[in-house]
Amino acid sequence: MDNQINTYEISIKRCDDNYLKFKLNLDKSLTIIDALDEIRVNLDPSITYRHSCHHGSCGTCACIINGKERLACMTFLSDFEDCNITIEPLNSFKIISDLVVDISSMINKMEGSSYLRESELHKDSIKPYGIITYNRFENCIECGSCVSACPVKSNFIGPAPLASINRELNKTHDEESIKKLKGKAFKKDGVDACDKHYLCSKVCPTKVYPAKHINDLRKLKEK
Ligand code: SF4
Ligand code: FES
Repeated sequence: MDNQINTYEISIKRCDDNYLKFKLNLDKSLTIIDALDEIRVNLDPSITYRHSCHHGSCGTCACIINGKERLACMTFLSDFEDCNITIEPLNSFKIISDLVVDISSMINKMEGSSYLRESELHKDSIKPYGIITYNRFENCIECGSCVSACPVKSNFIGPAPLASINRELNKTHDEESIKKLKGKAFKKDGVDACDKHYLCSKVCPTKVYPAKHINDLRKLKEK
């Protein structure tokens, strides 16, 4: 049987821009989150990172691992041939602490109207106590990877918000909403600000393909 244990050198970028380096033996079947947990529990309790679901659905653990945006809970040590691993926070967002960034600048631009319409609820359904409304399930887990990878850093609403606008446009038949959504997409910082680098689609962990949504909006604008 293959020896699963390797000696890894893991560098973590801290909020003071310095990199902390840790050398430790780890099973290559572990994820990056597992490795961070090992470091925090056994070597340095001060490093900060974020995670919640551990199965690629909450988006909170996104960071840059060996130069590419990835979900730390879905990235395995065995994904890399090299045992030197560098973990950095996402670009384009304000750093709260070490690997933890504030994604509210993206969230505030997302279309948040993806609620189930009353007409889609079963007539006999009763909302559980404390639940005011339901969110429609979407592929986007709002991890921020696409925004981080996009080289257009200013005067651009960003890939995930544009994808959310296109999704809403495909759902709604309400003239007023369509006008509003098109207004946002076709503003100066909308589709025209995209430089077509397509990195957003390359890094998206849930195959939202934001660049495709942006392209759809572009075609709609040219109609
Ligand atoms: S579009 Fe993809 S990369 Fe961008 S925030 Fe949503 S899930 Fe993350
Ligand atoms: S911890 Fe939820 S996506 Fe990684």
